[in-house]
Amino acid sequence: MSEKATVAVVGAGWWATTMHIPALLKNPRVEKILLVDKNPAAAKAAAEKYNLQFQYSTIAEAKAAHPELKGAIIAVTHQAHYAAAMESLEQGLHLLIEKPMTIYARDAKALADKADAIGVEILMGYTFPYMDHAVKAKGYIDEGLIGDIEYVACSMSSITYDLLKGHPEKFAPDGGYTVTGPATTTYSEPSVAGGGQSVLQVTHLAALMFHFAQELRADTVTAFMNNLEAKVDVVDAIAVRMNTGALAIVGSTGNVGMGDPGSVEVHLHGSKGRILVDGFSGEMFMRLHNGREEHIPRHNAGYPGEIPSMKLVEIILDGAKPAFPGRTNGLYTVELLEAALRSAAQDGMPVKVASLYT
Ligand SMILES: NC(=O)c1ccc[n+]([C@@H]2O[C@H](COP(=O)([O-])OP(=O)(O)OC[C@H]3O[C@@H](n4cnc5c(N)ncnc54)[C@H](O)[C@@H]3O)[C@@H](O)[C@H]2O)c1
Repeated sequence: MSEKATVAVVGAGWWATTMHIPALLKNPRVEKILLVDKNPAAAKAAAEKYNLQFQYSTIAEAKAAHPELKGAIIAVTHQAHYAAAMESLEQGLHLLIEKPMTIYARDAKALADKADAIGVEILMGYTFPYMDHAVKAKGYIDEGLIGDIEYVACSMSSITYDLLKGHPEKFAPDGGYTVTGPATTTYSEPSVAGGGQSVLQVTHLAALMFHFAQELRADTVTAFMNNLEAKVDVVDAIAVRMNTGALAIVGSTGNVGMGDPGSVEVHLHGSKGRILVDGFSGEMFMRLHNGREEHIPRHNAGYPGEIPSMKLVEIILDGAKPAFPGRTNGLYTVELLEAALRSAAQDGMPVKVASLYT
């Protein structure tokens, strides 16, 4: 295997220019970064900011010019994930796909099937499971300390309302976006975003739940959603019956005040105890039926946004396996979200996940 990787970044927008490109530049195991964007202005702006040489408008052009290319980061707008990921798989590439994997479960399954057929990996771009307190909780769950999962309560609150209303300028950090911010349509137009708080944020929450409790997969979903003043959902209340019989509630709002760190809480209750993890606050609390307690209080836990691209490089160079595979973590999360959006569109009517495939 070669010692250094060539990596394509498909979508040179806000997140790629803020997180993935700087992380790749810092990674001594990366040889070349290839920018791929259907909008040449976006690729050019990123190339100028980071002094990058290679820009293409399709992944096929990038691969033709750099046959050593083995992996790509898919960081395009949500509705474009499927096509960009499939085109990259057609070039035989390992993928890091930003969340959500796709908008539709059938598309996510098609990507997983294609990756399996050609022997490449799909890593989902989730971040919270890498945090130390989440790793600790996962270890306890895998040891069987909380027993069989019976009930999960998940809640996420975040400051995304301006993005969902199409005002990314109000979301900009002090001093402005590093290169370019999201377009006004990125998170607010259903035809581009594929949904609102659900596909933008609940995707993190549901994926964290499925990462902790790998035996769970949604069977039936019912949901109510409120768009407030946006065209897409902002407030979500979702109830899920899992394949194991476990029940989950998954709720979220994008309307907390600027400067509020919000919450990403997954609270799993099992036959032998319960464990709570909050991604934003760094808190973990475990209480077992036998009285054992463990608590990591709130602290500034940071945001591990640079880790996903490092993990992609390990997949390319070391043959590492993804911690959050598209086949399970990515797909199961899309199933829950698509079923929830369908249910909410029918005033909360229960939607069987199996019906997403018919
Ligand atoms: N993990 C995180 O914490 C995190 C944070 C922010 C965004 N994200 C994710 O990153 C992804 C990108 O979001 P963003 O805010 O950077 O969007 P953006 O609108 O700023 O940028 C998207 C870019 O993709 C390009 N594009 C669209 N379709 C394309 C295609 N088919 N081929 C090539 N280029 C295409 C656009 O021209 C644009 O430059 C989304 O999936 C989003 O959810 C993740």
